[in-house]
Order: sequence, then C-alpha cells, then structure tokens
Amino acid sequence: MTSDPATTPFGEQPAPEKREIIEICARYDNDHRRMMDILIDVQDRFRWISPIALETVATATGQSRIAVEGVATFYAFFAQEPKGRVTIRLCDDIIDRFAGMPEVAKAFEHELAINVGETSADGAFSLEYTPCIGLCDQAPAAMINDIVVVDLTVEKARRIAMALKSGVRPESLISDRFDELSPHERATRMVDNNIRHAGASLLGPVPEDAGLHAALRKRPEQIVSDIIGSGLRGCGGAGYPTGKKWRTAAQTEAEERFVICNADEGEPGTFKDRVLLTERTDLIIEGMTIAARAIGAREGIIYLRGEYTYLKAVLLETLAQRRQAGLLGRDIMGVEGFDFEIRLQMGAGAYVCGEEGALISSCEGLPGEPKTRPPFPATRGYLGYPTIVNNVETFCHVARILDRGPEWFFNMGIERSHGVKLFSVSGDCLNPGIYELPFGLTVQELLDMAGAEDAAAVLVGGPCGTMVARDRFDRRLGYGDLGTGGAVVVFNGDRNILEIVEYYMSFFVHESCGYCTPCRVGNVFLQKAVAKFRKGLANPEDIDYLRDLSGTIIETSRCGLGMTSPNPILSTLDNFPLVYSAMVKPSEGGIRATFDIQSAIDEARKLAKRRSHIFDSDFTK
Ligand SMILES: Cc1cc2nc3c(=O)[nH]c(=O)nc-3n(C[C@H](O)[C@H](O)[C@H](O)COP(=O)(O)O)c2cc1C
Ligand code: SF4
Repeated sequence: MTSDPATTPFGEQPAPEKREIIEICARYDNDHRRMMDILIDVQDRFRWISPIALETVATATGQSRIAVEGVATFYAFFAQEPKGRVTIRLCDDIIDRFAGMPEVAKAFEHELAINVGETSADGAFSLEYTPCIGLCDQAPAAMINDIVVVDLTVEKARRIAMALKSGVRPESLISDRFDELSPHERATRMVDNNIRHAGASLLGPVPEDAGLHAALRKRPEQIVSDIIGSGLRGCGGAGYPTGKKWRTAAQTEAEERFVICNADEGEPGTFKDRVLLTERTDLIIEGMTIAARAIGAREGIIYLRGEYTYLKAVLLETLAQRRQAGLLGRDIMGVEGFDFEIRLQMGAGAYVCGEEGALISSCEGLPGEPKTRPPFPATRGYLGYPTIVNNVETFCHVARILDRGPEWFFNMGIERSHGVKLFSVSGDCLNPGIYELPFGLTVQELLDMAGAEDAAAVLVGGPCGTMVARDRFDRRLGYGDLGTGGAVVVFNGDRNILEIVEYYMSFFVHESCGYCTPCRVGNVFLQKAVAKFRKGLANPEDIDYLRDLSGTIIETSRCGLGMTSPNPILSTLDNFPLVYSAMVKPSEGGIRATFDIQSAIDEARKLAKRRSHIFDSDFTK
C-alpha cells in the first residue's frame, strides 16, 4: 500500500502532468459522471486534453480511453492541440458580422500576427471564431479566456491586442481592481444588462423568497395545480405547459427525482437568460427549490453554457449564500425532511446541449447527444430518474406565480399565451436589449419600442422561428401566432436575406451532433442550395427541391435541432418568395443534378467535425 493516493490507480510515481490530472479526477471522486468537470479543469490547467490526459482520466474514472475521447472531441472548448495562454474567441453571429466583426477580426489578426484559427508559435495567443455568445445587444463581442469584451471597434480591438501583448492579463482589461470586485460587479463591468422595459413579473421589484414561503404553505400537488392554473408555458422555445411536465414527473414512481435548470442559452439572438442569471439569480434558485418541493426532488443542477463562464462566480456565490441562510440544503426553512441541493454544471461550447436530452447526456458525463424520445425526461431523465428540465426564465416565473397567485399570471397576455415574457431584441434598432411584455403584442409594437424604424424583416424565435416581412408586422407574439422563446432579430432593408439564411444554415451544419443522416448531410445540401441561389445559379424547380429536402429533414431527424433547422429556408420561402424567384435562371438540370451524394456526405463529416465512430451509430442503419 502506498502513502501517496496519487499513485494508487497506476502503482507508480506519475509524471507531474499525470499527477495533477489524477488530483483533478480525485476532486470529483473519480466519478465518470463528472467527466465534464474533469475535462474542463484539465483543459483550463493544460490548455488542451493531451493523449496522456485521455489515458490518465480514463484510468482514474474506470472508463475506456475511447469513451473519454468521445467526450473530449465533442465539445468545441476542449482542444486536441495546445491552445494559447490567451484564447480569443470572436463571436461569429450574423449580428456581429453586420456590426463589423470582419474588420475587428482583421485588427486582431494584424496585431497578433496570426490568422483566425491559429495559435501563435510562442503559445501566447489563439484566435478563433465561435457561434453566438449571447451578447447580440452589444455586438461585436468576444471572449478572452473567461472574460468578455463588447461593443468592439477596430480601434478597441487594436488596444486590447496591444495590451495583451504587453503582458496585461485579460481581467485587467475590465478593471485594475478586478480581483477586489464582487462577482456581480465583475459581470456588470463587462456586460450591460440593457433592460429596456421592466414588466409585471421579473424585472420590476421582486420580494425576497415570497414565492418559496407561499409554496411551503401548500401541499406539493397544490403547487403543481397552481402552475397548471397559471397557464405558464416553458420559456426555452418549445412552450410546453410547465405544470403538465411537473405533474408527470411527480406522478412517476421513482426513488429519486431531479430538477434541472437549462441555462445553456445558445439560440442565436437570445440573451434574456444572461440578464436573469446576472440580476435575478436568487429568483432562479427560488423557482428551482419550489419545483423540487412540487415533484419531490432532492437534487438539482444548473447547466450553464461555457460561454457564460464569467457568470459562474455569481451563481456559486448565490448558492453559497442561500445554503448559509437555510434556503438550500437540509430541512429548508425549517421544514423537516425538505432537503434540496443544487450543483452547477458547466457546458463547453455545444449548442445542441440546450436540447434537454443532450443536456442530460452532458450532465451524465457523456457527449452531448440528444436521447431518443419517448421516454421523455419527465419520466426517465437524468441517470434514468424522472427529471424536469426548465428554462431559466420559466423558474423565475414559477417563483412569482407562487407569490402572486395563478390568476394573476393567467389574466395577463392572451389566449394560449398567458402571462408576460422576456424578449431579447437585437440587430438594426436603436434600443437593443431586454423587453418584458405581456404576450399578444404585435411585432410592430415591439419594433416601435425598440426604435427599429427601417425594419424590413424580423426574425422571431431565432433561426428555428419565423422570418416576418414588413407587410406582416401586425402578427402577434404568442403561441397562437408567432411562438417564441423570446429572440427578436431586426434586419433593415440593406441586409441580404439569402446571406442571413445561408449563415443560419451554416450554423446548423456546424452544430449538428452528427448522429443522424438527414440532419448531418441534409443541412449541408440545404446550405449549398442556398449558396447557389445567392450566386444566381439555381433553377425554378430548385425551389421545390428546397421544400422537399426540408420536409425530409424535419420528418426524419431525431431531435429538435434537425426538426427545425430548415426553418430559415421554409419561412423565407413563404414570406420572402421574391428573394428566391429573383435569383433563379432557367437552365438545364437543377441543384438536384449538380450534387454528388458521396462527396456531400464526406463534406458533411468534415463540417460536422465529428469522429467517424459517431457516424457508425447512424439510426438509419
Ligand atoms: C437544439 C436545441 C437547443 C435548445 N436550446 C435551449 C436553450 O439554450 N435553453 C432552453 O431553455 N431550452 C433550449 N431548448 C429547449 C429544451 O430542449 C427544452 O425544451 C427546454 O429546456 C424546456 O424548458 P422550458 O419548458 O422551461 O422551456 C433547445 C432545444 C433544441 C432542440
Ligand atoms: S437531429 Fe441533428 S442534432 Fe439532433 S440528434 Fe440528429 S444529428 Fe444530432
């Protein structure tokens, strides 16, 4: 027996790197379900997941090396080659592009003497693009290690790069006194909340834990009935009735149940959860605690996207304060047997992990691949137990509903869409930011508030949603008409609709997890087809091709990503038909004839950036 626990799994004195990795694994009890945390710590410490790291983590957690590699290669923030000591991730969202990111990127490239996608020879800097980082209201924006910088200009980029080159640490770009600031101060120094309109539920004054007090005076079934009675729909996009989901989880026989807060907020154009995580941290956790009471859960998880690492300390501080105050932990608020704990699970740069099955996989230490449904998480979720996954905003409304009563919430909004909702407004408008408004407003009413005078197209609900043309700005925000998780992106008449559509298709190609063929390959075909329209090379029958292929992808994909990925095309075909017809030319052979399926599949593999073993699990086989 050895006196050094670090040698135990190997029976030898490990090299320094190995030793540190063994210590990291031990911090998480060598539990393979904490693989994300382990790999995040390894990446932070060594700036890559080296072959030695893969072996060491595999041995310590009792997993095969291929299993660890499957996780390490799935997430964009895990590197297979050493990253620079400072990694600059430039937000590549279409809003950032229109706001000047290409010029900002050139300025960084020039000052750092590397191209986007490269690491400097001395290992000081890596420069890369990353999809939407939830800062569209202050684009162009970038992450520099774990801090964020916003409203970038060429001049600002130059100054930042020069400061970093001279040895200034990224945190000092925010404040010389960064380390002395509270987590909340740090976050708000980096990022503006841009709260433009505070409504009745979340962004006005909120009494402390009034909802939790009220919940503890009720039986769990009554809490569920209140949520059903309020008409609350999930705020993450799909709009599923929250109370119904909770009732399923509560009524499913099980020894354990779990509550998960989805703070992955990766939908391009969405940033409302960022503001709640910064300003309503207590309310989120209060809502989760009420949910735990309602369904009988003892453990919860907040899944925070890697792009929001700068908000991690805010959450950890609030969790600690609530534990201290008896609002988390054992016998909460003195109620014997009401025990509930929450852990924070960081993501690592994968949009698909916002999908609840993929999110659960990630929490279980697996690659973030969606699960086959049914069973739904409410009956069989995290570790096989009934699990409710709800959006950050949903939990906040829950706490307010318990305080103010279900009728109060039900009586706001319109039929099928009760209550108020946060809208993230960005793009070509004077007042980008967060608007808390009752459901039922018209697009035009919201545009007037946001100062979007020359709006020509408005994307409601992110790329999976609907692109609305100017002549239909009388359409209403709500599930009877324009259902939405809250993203509203404004485009003026100078923007090229096909460029926007092509960008969103490239986003879906990049973010497809690669599990099923229609999504993995079909979206590449769609993107290519849109590019042909942009170049004026498409034929009239190619419009039918776009519709046919979109229909196939929607029908045959395994998860919501594939099922909604053709929407940028379908909704612009419906609402902007002239954009397509103006670009067609009569000629022989359409796009159909110009595609070679095999080369497209090969290209899809490259674009989806997934290892070949993932393709072996194709559900069509
Ligand atoms: C590709 C994809 C990404 C998603 N991303 C998010 C997300 O970032 N945040 C979120 O709350 N829901 C997201 N969802 C929806 C979740 O799967 C799930 O419906 C939601 O978390 C349930 O919470 P809610 O009922 O409170 O909305 C996503 C769905 C898909 C298909
Ligand atoms: S639809 Fe796309 S993202 Fe969803 S499981 Fe299939 S390949 Fe993955």
